[in-house]
Amino acid sequence: MCAGSYRRKYYDRFSRIYDKFVALHSRDTRENTREFLVAKTPLERGDKVLDICTGTGSLLPRLEKKVGIRGLVVGLDFSRGMLEVARHKVSPHSNVCFVEADAVFLPFKENVFDAVTCSHAFYELKSGTQDRLLQDIVRVLKPGKTFVMMEHELPDNNFIRFLLYVRFFSMGAGRAVQILRHEREMLEKYFSPVEKLSTPSGRSKIWICTNKK
Ligand SMILES: C[S@@+](CC[C@H](N)C(=O)[O-])C[C@H]1O[C@@H](n2cnc3c(N)ncnc32)[C@H](O)[C@@H]1O
Repeated sequence: MCAGSYRRKYYDRFSRIYDKFVALHSRDTRENTREFLVAKTPLERGDKVLDICTGTGSLLPRLEKKVGIRGLVVGLDFSRGMLEVARHKVSPHSNVCFVEADAVFLPFKENVFDAVTCSHAFYELKSGTQDRLLQDIVRVLKPGKTFVMMEHELPDNNFIRFLLYVRFFSMGAGRAVQILRHEREMLEKYFSPVEKLSTPSGRSKIWICTNKK
């Protein structure tokens, strides 16, 4: 079984408890963090937004509220299990749609989206996938529009940092550590300007990246 397929199956199983796990783990700070991410995503009524690696879709209802009835929200993930959970968070008549696909290739035309978001997922992607995905985000974003990426901050506490590293390596995402340290250089290859914000909890950071195309 290849690593991608293993990871997909892992998330299919994890989907049943993912939201409970996050609530327990983050004691609700993750919800405030998501509010913060959506608040910082530049969107207007009627806009189209893509959430990559949407998981159980926690950003989707919030993004939907922001773009309104004339807008469009797309949640993309390769795990059917995660998308099934996400589907229950939005009305079947909403303007949110779901795409089951590997982020290695975004199945959309160029210059379609007014914003692209990705929360706590980019570091999990393989290095080749990350570069291809960034190029593809540039392609599907309209010129001058924004990619907003949220990632963990490396914890100051040595023991907690060690636990985070163990989690990354157990997922086969050893390069994640390097990425968490060098995101700016990676993002500046494709976007300008690239601005960094800290979330209110201080546990995550948000990168606001403007498409220089
Ligand atoms: C840690 S979860 C984050 C989910 C959500 N964005 C959040 O903030 O709760 C990572 C998600 O990325 C998805 N994922 C990982 N690799 C992927 C890939 N190559 N293509 C599409 N989705 C992927 C997983 O299925 C999972 O739903």
